[in-house]
Amino acid sequence: MMRTILSACKQVQTPLLDIPGLNMELFNPRRRKEKVVFVIGATGTGKSKLSIDLATRFPAEIINSDKMQVYKGLHIVTNKVTEEECRGVPHHLLGIADPNTNFTAMDFCHHASLAIQSITARNRHPIIAGGSNSFIEALVNEALVTDVPEFKSRYECCFLWVDVSLPVLHRFVSERVDRMVEAGLVEEVRRIFDPEADYSRGIRRAIGVPEMDQFLRGERIIGDKIAAQYLRKAIAKIKENTCKLACSQLDKIHRLQNIRGWKIHRLDATEAFLKRGDDAEEAWEKHVAGPSTDIVGCFLRHQDCVPNIVVPVPSTAIIGSTVPMTAVAAASH
Ligand SMILES: *[C@@H]1O[C@H](CO)[C@@H](O)[C@H](O)[C@H]1NC(C)=O
Repeated sequence: MMRTILSACKQVQTPLLDIPGLNMELFNPRRRKEKVVFVIGATGTGKSKLSIDLATRFPAEIINSDKMQVYKGLHIVTNKVTEEECRGVPHHLLGIADPNTNFTAMDFCHHASLAIQSITARNRHPIIAGGSNSFIEALVNEALVTDVPEFKSRYECCFLWVDVSLPVLHRFVSERVDRMVEAGLVEEVRRIFDPEADYSRGIRRAIGVPEMDQFLRGERIIGDKIAAQYLRKAIAKIKENTCKLACSQLDKIHRLQNIRGWKIHRLDATEAFLKRGDDAEEAWEKHVAGPSTDIVGCFLRHQDCVPNIVVPVPSTAIIGSTVPMTAVAAASH
């Protein structure tokens, strides 16, 4: 599979806002609040696709909230959107950070805030999309930035959660790892391989990089047969770690919903994942893109409509969750 790499994907430089008086205006409580849409969900559920769908239906721009896609490089490993997938929608915070240093939640809050201000100043809507719930939580709850008023007092938030039943998602992300390997994952990681490198920093923390270490260290000295074994082990480990990531992302979303009390609209994309081709597209439109468009439309029109698809977490979504929902609910009281 050929991937057009996204540098061509319209990268937006967020201008530093340094306009006297602007911030006072932003924090004026009587000012109408700007609206921010969030697209959250586990890895592989189609957050990018949904955010781009929405940005082609509303005047919107996307702010990436995936802590690995924020770095430059490793397009295949981090599963960045291709230029074709972007469909001309401007993306912020995608492939901008130095891959050798940590881009922290605090960095995210800073850069995302600037991007939001720049997007809303141009009368467009920010859609924040990505799997790093810790970034989203830091931004919305401002736990890390004490000198700025609460995010929620400045912005109205609408949370969309793309959910896929875990057994279906696990199968999908495993197959996705195979597709990444076909697309050149091994070559991509080999290019940044450095036996002295620190795997606890920057882009080398991405799933797909540390797992390849043993194989890349050994491939020139061990025989082909053993190298092939190491590679198979590495790929199995990448799949396992991706599935673990999906589970922890879901746990975190349940916590935001049940303990933080965030009102999150859940879209069940499972049917779209069980189908192929046009049927899959149709199911996606019916269960995910269509309902999301309705929700966002209401939200942006300042209507007080609560779409009826706000539902309690269904049992399928908590398979594999380490915290039973009853325990979570009890803990929140
Ligand atoms: C980078 O972040 C990771 C994960 O939070 C942490 O374990 C590591 O110590 C950090 N490294 C540096 C150099 O700050």
